[in-house]
Amino acid sequence: MKKLEVFGVAKLKGQIRISGSKNASLPILAATLLSDKIISLRNLPKVKDIETMILLLKSLGSIVDDNKKKITIKNNKQSKTFAAYSLVKTMRAGILVLGPLLAKFGKAKVSLPGGCAIGTRPVDIHLKALSKLGVKYKIIQGYVHADAPKGLIGANIKFPKISVGATENLIIAACLAKGKTVLSNCAIEPEIEDLINFLIKMGCNIKWTSKRTIKIEGVAKVNELNYQVMPDRIEAGTYLIAAALTEGNLKVTGIDPKIISTEINILKKVGAKIIQKKNEILIKGSKKIKSINIKTSPYPGFPTDLQAQMMVLLCKANKKSYIKEEIFENRFMHVAELNRMGAKISINGNKATIEGNIKFEAAELMATDLRASVSLILAALASKGKSIINRIYHLDRGYEDIEKKLKKVGAKIRRLN
Ligand code: EPZ
Repeated sequence: MKKLEVFGVAKLKGQIRISGSKNASLPILAATLLSDKIISLRNLPKVKDIETMILLLKSLGSIVDDNKKKITIKNNKQSKTFAAYSLVKTMRAGILVLGPLLAKFGKAKVSLPGGCAIGTRPVDIHLKALSKLGVKYKIIQGYVHADAPKGLIGANIKFPKISVGATENLIIAACLAKGKTVLSNCAIEPEIEDLINFLIKMGCNIKWTSKRTIKIEGVAKVNELNYQVMPDRIEAGTYLIAAALTEGNLKVTGIDPKIISTEINILKKVGAKIIQKKNEILIKGSKKIKSINIKTSPYPGFPTDLQAQMMVLLCKANKKSYIKEEIFENRFMHVAELNRMGAKISINGNKATIEGNIKFEAAELMATDLRASVSLILAALASKGKSIINRIYHLDRGYEDIEKKLKKVGAKIRRLN
């Protein structure tokens, strides 16, 4: 079982280049199923979830050529429409092939993703919305058996709750539906914007008609395309928080500050000095970290994917802080491990109370999910001595070359087999 060894205390100094966005790449990879032409994608992050999605596409009949700089996907053979549990269970975004398979082939058998450490991860919103496009589905032995005997027919759909994945699944499905689809109460994360840019460049007809409403006119077919995926704003936010935590001095490059303005404003409020340039962010952590109360919410609110990382920073604040997790029902798995490092965090329902002025102690730790594992690395960087973080396969799902990037800016970190 791979683990990470981290020696603290570290002050991060230097430059980190941000990789491509995992959460933009996954729906875009799923959307390639709409095409039977050649699609080339650049800037995909080299992380486990992308490998898994590519395996899933290959299992559906896609021919994928990966030459490191870009991947080329050809779907010109009849595709299979079965997405196996073995692939979907480790990467819940596998459910995103449901929309494109139904749009292209009118039928699909896709494994339900199943839950994970942070929550039950239901897909009811995806399924109810797809049925409005004429899809009939049954759940049999953990699989969604879906078909659209008359093809997908455009419809007006209002999501009952903001869902990133459901918005993505329905945008992709509606691209080949007959007629017009209007989706309202959509998620508006930058990754959805990137998916829409990709689909429009592939020949789809999609327009935002208001803040959370999209109009899609179905098209008969889509073109070939060469596309570069956007950078990862959660990776960028993670390194900015690491710099604020370690009184560091970092230049984070390859990211447009506009898409993480909420995070930047919060880091300024806690005392970090930040200069924003066109495609980079300079951050200098301050000795004094001010407390702040945060609640996670859909974009443009504070992202749930940075909640664990922010919690570590607030342990070092000058007084008590509060974090409310409004998106997932169980996203405090990192708290027990942080408390073992000397943190004093108490949970009441979806609210965490974080005592400040904590001196972290190095410890042997257990990662539980992707973002929790990176929060343990941050805490280890701020702890005197050697920490060991186990089960780092969680980390490898979503952070490209993390120890290489951290080592380059002064962290003493290495992978142990
Ligand atoms: C996406 O997950 C991201 N994953 C998550 O990032 C991110 O935390 C989440 O959006 C919220 O921003 C990818 O993009 C691959 P949702 P998704 O549908 O689409 C409930 C990471 O660390 N819900 O917006 O699954 C759901 O349970 C990952 O990179 C339903 O009830 O999130 C949750 O409470 C973790 N029924 C809330 O809505 C549904 O049909 C928001 O989920 C769908 C969702």
